[in-house]
Amino acid sequence: MSVLIKGKELSEKIVENIAQEVKNYEKKPGLTVIIVGDNPASRVYVNKKKTTAEKAGFNSAVIELPEDVSQQELETHIDVLNKEDTVDGILVQLPLPKHISTYDILERIKPEKDVDGFHPINVGRLVIGLKPYAVSCTPFGIIKLLEENNIEIEGKHAVVIGRSNIVGKPVASLLLNRNATVTVCHSKTASLRRICMQADILVAAVGIAKFVKADWVKPGAVVIDVGINRTEEGKLVGDVDFEEVSKKAGYITPVPGGVGPMTIAMLLANTLELFKLHNNL
Ligand code: GUN
Repeated sequence: MSVLIKGKELSEKIVENIAQEVKNYEKKPGLTVIIVGDNPASRVYVNKKKTTAEKAGFNSAVIELPEDVSQQELETHIDVLNKEDTVDGILVQLPLPKHISTYDILERIKPEKDVDGFHPINVGRLVIGLKPYAVSCTPFGIIKLLEENNIEIEGKHAVVIGRSNIVGKPVASLLLNRNATVTVCHSKTASLRRICMQADILVAAVGIAKFVKADWVKPGAVVIDVGINRTEEGKLVGDVDFEEVSKKAGYITPVPGGVGPMTIAMLLANTLELFKLHNNL
């Protein structure tokens, strides 16, 4: 049985430390989340972001916009928040409706307020190894989990399954910046299993329930499961077949309670950093 990498406990510790730090300041960090439309999963995530931010003593607001909001109207909201002194971090929950250009929206957010680290300036800084204003929350959380569990990254072969802008690409950059040898796989990758079998660190971010099986995993490997999938019975499962892979891996993140809680903790950490930057603290 592998060692469990418990994100829930670490995330609670991080949020608690942030809450303690915030008590020292006269002003409070401000986080505003924009949600468009009625995606039930997005609503759950946004509510959790708001309640956790409030628990940490932040000023937190959610702007709810209808599914048919125009590009221009959404951009106007961002322009207002960009200028608002009490707002340190702006997050536009993804995915956005098809008629909206996501790239234009993400580029509209001031890089210094981009808590998600999705602005091309922040992505670019990450790729060339400069410090971004913020690093994408889930990948940042994955690195924290590895570091907290004293898992060496340098010189290891890290295989990332999934090339999304939210997880796959930024986590690959973070691992590469820490001197891992990184292979990024995706839906068109040939011999996926054979590549995964070579991984010292395997990051699964494909969005397919129980996709990664035990015979894809090298004995003792570190397996990071980013997936959040619901089975027909309503059970939450990851992209990794936990039951069989946990018998073979050295370390594994559970779902739920692994990577998921870290995303929100890192969102708060990013907001706090931006707050300190804006207030010269
Ligand atoms: N949708 C799924 N994950 C994320 C995330 O990390 N940030 C935003 N803004 N939207 C998401």
